[in-house]
Amino acid sequence: MGKHISVLLQETIDLLDIKADGIYVDCTLGRAGTSGEILKRIPNGHLYSFDVDDEAIRESSEKLSKIGSNYTIIRSNFRHLRKELENLGVTKVDGLTIDLGVSSPQFDEGDRGFSYKEEARLDMRMDTSRAFSAHDIVNTYSLNDLARIFREYGEDQDAYQVAKLIVKERAVAPIDTTTQLVDIIKRAKPKKSLLKKGHPAKQIFQALRIETNDELGALKEALDTMVDLIAPNGVVAIISFHSLEDRIVKKKFVSLSKIEGDRHSLAVRPEDVEVAPFINLTSKPIEASDEELEFNHRSHCAKLRGIRKKGE
Ligand SMILES: C[S@@+](CC[C@H](N)C(=O)[O-])C[C@H]1O[C@@H](n2cnc3c(N)ncnc32)[C@H](O)[C@@H]1O
Repeated sequence: MGKHISVLLQETIDLLDIKADGIYVDCTLGRAGTSGEILKRIPNGHLYSFDVDDEAIRESSEKLSKIGSNYTIIRSNFRHLRKELENLGVTKVDGLTIDLGVSSPQFDEGDRGFSYKEEARLDMRMDTSRAFSAHDIVNTYSLNDLARIFREYGEDQDAYQVAKLIVKERAVAPIDTTTQLVDIIKRAKPKKSLLKKGHPAKQIFQALRIETNDELGALKEALDTMVDLIAPNGVVAIISFHSLEDRIVKKKFVSLSKIEGDRHSLAVRPEDVEVAPFINLTSKPIEASDEELEFNHRSHCAKLRGIRKKGE
């Protein structure tokens, strides 16, 4: 079973510039690679770590308890970040990190339905307490909605053809398993697509995972709420693995660090120039080093961006 190797871990820790007595939030606990490194550096602080995956929480609790006791694991979607922290009396934090997507063990647990390589019921829920799964999408979404998510979230050139065959096949019998879906994808795609590098089902599966877990919606909500949550000099560091995610993070970070109004325009009074609340720490995203690319296949499309709130 694949162990999860954290991506851009040292770079994330460096960016967070951790204070020994700080309050930190890891929105994506996973196998506690990042959380563990943060906890080691905050003997007098506190760490709050979010995840919705029960197995990730069970394994990580064990790991973190060996490092210290000054942490709290919150079983919740990080989109509810502010409310969950407020319930615990936390209104300001010194650093926050998100390492988006799925962890290697989630892919390897064949029965979760994340992998096109394993026979399983179509599922793909990170949070198994929720009812909505990839099975609902494949068997109930309209032709146009299927084609849209395959095109937008999967960036798959054959989105429409795949959606069309899904709709035709499910009229005969429900599409229940990953293998059934892979077979439909292979039959729907033209020969030239099947000859391309990479598994023909990869992008369709990625699109279904993003839609099942509303991954982009959760990211946008967290980005909106973190603005007030971050204390002066606090840092936000986010790793994304998909161009749509990276675009959302980049746009938000640029808008928070851009000075509104033109300081030099005679028509604008200096007091009307709105000062940006954050400083962008990564005008270009940080990507994995050649060394990391060699031993961690997940690092290939990873992009790390950071911003720091200005001091008071
Ligand atoms: C890539 S892994 C994080 C790995 C972690 N940084 C480490 O070093 O082990 C992502 C984790 O975040 C969780 N996750 C993804 N989206 C989430 C969300 N919106 N709310 C809470 N947890 C989420 C997944 O269940 C998974 O365990």
